[in-house]
Amino acid sequence: MVQPEEQARLYRPRPELLPAAHVPSLADYRRLYRRSVEKPQEFWGDVAKEFYWKQQQQPWVPFLWYNFDATKGRIFIEWMKGAKTNVCYNLLDRNVGEKKLGDKVAFYWEGNEPGDSMKITYGELLRKVCQFANVLHNHGVKKGDRISIYLPMILELVIAMLACARIGAIHSVVFAGFSADSLCERILDCGCSLLITADAFYRGDKLVNLKQIADEALQKSKDKGFPLKKCIVVKHLGREEIAADEEIAADGACSQSPPLKRLCQDVQIPWDPHMDVWWQDLMSGASTECEPEWCDSEDELFILYTSGSTGKPKGVLHTVGGYMLYAATSFKYVFDYQPEDIYWCTADIGWITGHSYITYGPLANGATSVLFEGIPTYPDAGRMWSIIDKYKVTKFYTAPTAIRLLMKYGEELVKKHSRKSLKVLGTVGEPINPEAWLWYYRVVGEERCPIVDTFWQTETGGHMLTPLPAATPMKPGSATFPFFGVVPAIVNESGEELEGEAEGYLVFKQPWPGIMRTLYGNHQQFETTYFKKFPGYYVTGDGCRRDKDGYYWITGRIDDMLNVSGHLLSTAEVESALLGHAAVSEAAVVSHPHPLKGECLYCFVTLKDGHEFTKDLADELKKQVREKIGPIATPDYIQNAPSLPKTRSGKITRRILRKIAQNDRDLGDISTLVNPGIINQLFNNRCDTKL
Ligand code: WT7
Repeated sequence: MVQPEEQARLYRPRPELLPAAHVPSLADYRRLYRRSVEKPQEFWGDVAKEFYWKQQQQPWVPFLWYNFDATKGRIFIEWMKGAKTNVCYNLLDRNVGEKKLGDKVAFYWEGNEPGDSMKITYGELLRKVCQFANVLHNHGVKKGDRISIYLPMILELVIAMLACARIGAIHSVVFAGFSADSLCERILDCGCSLLITADAFYRGDKLVNLKQIADEALQKSKDKGFPLKKCIVVKHLGREEIAADEEIAADGACSQSPPLKRLCQDVQIPWDPHMDVWWQDLMSGASTECEPEWCDSEDELFILYTSGSTGKPKGVLHTVGGYMLYAATSFKYVFDYQPEDIYWCTADIGWITGHSYITYGPLANGATSVLFEGIPTYPDAGRMWSIIDKYKVTKFYTAPTAIRLLMKYGEELVKKHSRKSLKVLGTVGEPINPEAWLWYYRVVGEERCPIVDTFWQTETGGHMLTPLPAATPMKPGSATFPFFGVVPAIVNESGEELEGEAEGYLVFKQPWPGIMRTLYGNHQQFETTYFKKFPGYYVTGDGCRRDKDGYYWITGRIDDMLNVSGHLLSTAEVESALLGHAAVSEAAVVSHPHPLKGECLYCFVTLKDGHEFTKDLADELKKQVREKIGPIATPDYIQNAPSLPKTRSGKITRRILRKIAQNDRDLGDISTLVNPGIINQLFNNRCDTKL
């Protein structure tokens, strides 16, 4: 148990470890912060000067122009409208040319199998991106076209994203753990013209035949009247150039050791010669030069889907200029990036964390990163620490769920590895419990490394509340203070701002460059979801407390969303998957505490007449959700509910269901229920629910 005094204690950064820190003290943070929010134009204007602009803004166009108040018309946000640039050019050409980083390693790729690795320099990355940009051109892809990318964590994923950015196409990356239905839904929603996927990959010892799932999605999309013309397939499992392990010398140079045999593959990859083409075949003939498309700062860069409380995923849209500045700046300050760093973010690029802090932020800074294909527990639970030692990782960014998982395996496994290269640790995705924070701090970082607990969202594009490593005294479990340009407030139910120590809804008062601009194809939903509840504010959907020292503590979601292992899911989405089963007449899903995942899914189902609740049926329902959404959404509990507690207006009272799931009989007021009699029955059904 963490003692209250430990949690209340301030953990001060040790500046001697960060002699060259960008922000060396709290006073420096405060000074920069004040300028960023009082004079955003000056602050971000200076940041923008570090990037290449093909054309500056016209003098009469405002640097920042916006409306955050739905009662005053349409919501919009524009940063540097009219200025022309290209994100890919800034990430690659400028680093290779002007900054002379052509021979610097951009990524060390570490495969699922230990010893399976590759590296790519900035120069090579630029050539490959140009080649693939030409491939896209040759397939008729134009500025503004949407391209779906469904790939595991391989270098081609980064190459494909940047090739889109180079020609002004909009990428929509779909996490490779999503199902065929989820992929199809995302393809249809943005009307994409081409799919990029891979043959297959291993996740730990589990084989994923990705092409087969992609084909199912394409078939479904065709059945719905939207046939795609081409599918580009990376030969990954069947790669001919078998990756070789590389010993990394102290100076960072690599020497090749003998080639390693990839896992045996008797895998059948479905193939349609009219539709499918191998990535490698297309690349071999393509030119390594490609003129970038000069885009407006407010042109679309990418769409990334996130769960919505209506059950249908929302296509969060980010634009060129503001996102680039925000991802680059937050990466630089929050990880206190230094040129000699080896940075590793364990997130999947299929989520926003991977977009901002594997692809865009690090490359904009000319950083060297590790890109890891595998999982923390394969071949054993020491994999993370061994990768840290192999590449001498200095900045390490992971999720609380991974920390809790590795805690379970004990300290010995960590201490077997040196980890002396580590300087800064980071977490993201959900509130970190103080036990996990202290373990990360003491065991992993040996009380030497500050922890940056970064609160943000797919919608915010980058960090919103976060410590800065050399400046901010930390409190375990608090995301501390706002990042540059961010003005948080806590409001009560009636939208009044609360001062000092307070708890309520977390909102933001003015736009920062990384904020999304719309939901793809649904601007109205964008306005109602984020700006309607409290006019004049961006609403996060999170609860938050501010303590007497002004520290912010996220208390979790206050809408019908839940956070499983750092990923948001909507209860409505899971309910609709359950309702898709022939035996189910009604379903209600609530969040339930889980020791590793943080939260998990607890489902109540009412069956149609003539169906009987059995273990087989419960398993089938779990499978159904898995297939409709993906493995992350697999329910932990399915409970038989002869009926669901409802109010007179027919609304299911999830508050009561949550209590039933936790066997907590302190139900509060149940007088609004039309069917209070059902409650006892639901409690009685509980005990045999763990299937
Ligand atoms: C939601 C956003 C941000 C990238 C990954 C998730 C929760 C995120 C923290 C944190 C407490 C956090 C919030 C937020 N969340 N980071 N450091 N402390 N909660 O992106 O899927 O858009 O989820 O994740 O509830 O609203 P996402």
